[in-house]
Amino acid sequence: MAEAADTRATEVTLEEIVALCKRRGFIFPSSEIYGGVGSTYDYGHYGVLLRNNVKDEWWRAMVRERDDIVALDSAILQHPRVWEASGHLEGFTDPLVDCRTCGLRFRADKLEDAQCGRKPSKHPGEFSECDLTDAREFNLMFETHVGPVKDTASTAYLRPETAQGIFINFKNVLQFARKKPPFGIAQIGKSFRNEITTGNFIFRTREFEQMEMEYFVPPDQAPKWHQYWMDERMRWYTELGIRPANLMLRPHDADELSHYSSATSDVEYLFPMGWSELEGIANRGDFDLTQHAKASGEKLEYFDQERGEAYVPHVIEPAAGVDRAMLAFMVDAYDTEEVEGRKRTLLRLHPRLAPVKVAVLPLVSKEGMPERAREIYEEIRARVPAEYDEGGSIGKRYRRQDEIGTPWGVTVDGRTMEDGTVTLRDRDTLEQERVPAAGLGDRLAAKVAEPWSSPKLG
Ligand code: GAP
Repeated sequence: MAEAADTRATEVTLEEIVALCKRRGFIFPSSEIYGGVGSTYDYGHYGVLLRNNVKDEWWRAMVRERDDIVALDSAILQHPRVWEASGHLEGFTDPLVDCRTCGLRFRADKLEDAQCGRKPSKHPGEFSECDLTDAREFNLMFETHVGPVKDTASTAYLRPETAQGIFINFKNVLQFARKKPPFGIAQIGKSFRNEITTGNFIFRTREFEQMEMEYFVPPDQAPKWHQYWMDERMRWYTELGIRPANLMLRPHDADELSHYSSATSDVEYLFPMGWSELEGIANRGDFDLTQHAKASGEKLEYFDQERGEAYVPHVIEPAAGVDRAMLAFMVDAYDTEEVEGRKRTLLRLHPRLAPVKVAVLPLVSKEGMPERAREIYEEIRARVPAEYDEGGSIGKRYRRQDEIGTPWGVTVDGRTMEDGTVTLRDRDTLEQERVPAAGLGDRLAAKVAEPWSSPKLG
């Protein structure tokens, strides 16, 4: 009794993703009741669950399945001298121009991507009335003040990357973890940048979450480990269902490199707006540890007992954005098809990423089915994240679960009451099989753990 899929379209626009996120409560524009505040988003129920699953998969790959990386959670507010030593106070800038006519501000190096405030829309500088200032450097760090007195001595910054929290804890972690290079420190947390060019939904926002890992290695091994982490990170995305044709590694040109980097490659994804950075994998050399050692007076090095000498490890850094990864997973999973004359929209998410793994649905709200379905649901949810849904027609409930990416549906019907079996529906194939309700929690937990690849690969 499978529903039959007739045709499939795979293109998705950012507008369709935004609409699905709103419709199904994944993501809302922040402060909406006050008219919104640009490029800031709030995550609703399914957004939180999906986002947590992305982070959990990163923790799994970085820490749970390895012995050489430990976790850290450092503070957002750090000593202002951290940002002096790291080079962010001086170097974390974008070149900006202002238009004296319309009062808008643009990235000087991105004028061809910007739109002038006037109509018909043109690029800044293209109207005869445009009056652009010379470019000047604008620091992207948000400034705030610590304590009751608002003067230069109280200035603090919201961290623009989580990485510095790792470098300033190098000594603490080394002592506690008793590791020797190569070893890593991993952290997930919020970062803040006063971006001038925002947009493309959650792709570039001023408040976002990063998943960063600093891998400390003997200096002569840095190129080898840089390659290793590029391969590893590409594997992570493809294992979680991103189609390889939509991913690529792009080495930075010398003039693109951040002030700390000697080599960086970006993992790029084919977003609806084109190829864009998903994650940066940098060789930071000994820049950060050396800078903090100089500025703090602390020795930030590793003493190699065998060779009887101390050295400053070099650092390989895979730095990913939680929000961008979530967007890429949703874009890659989004699909529509015609089923029995009706359009079906669905997220073909990897089961490990899906916010809900299984929906338990009574066929109708009578004849004891809701009660039996709830019992089955309670048994299943002890093993995998599940949802119970009894409102509306069964078709509508399936569609809803398809849109939030739920891989399996369990339907309790008249036969369940007689022989204890239920139907198990597969989101991707639409096949339904009859299985015993007993032991379904274990069976579904085993299915979630199985290797998976996107059905869009054919
Ligand atoms: N510690 C190195 C670092 O911060 P980055 O390339 O500036 O490097 C790493 O940032 C990742 O953080 C990016 O690849 C992206 O996924 C995410 N990211 C950076 N800025 C962002 C923003 N404004 N909004 C959303 N994600 C952002």
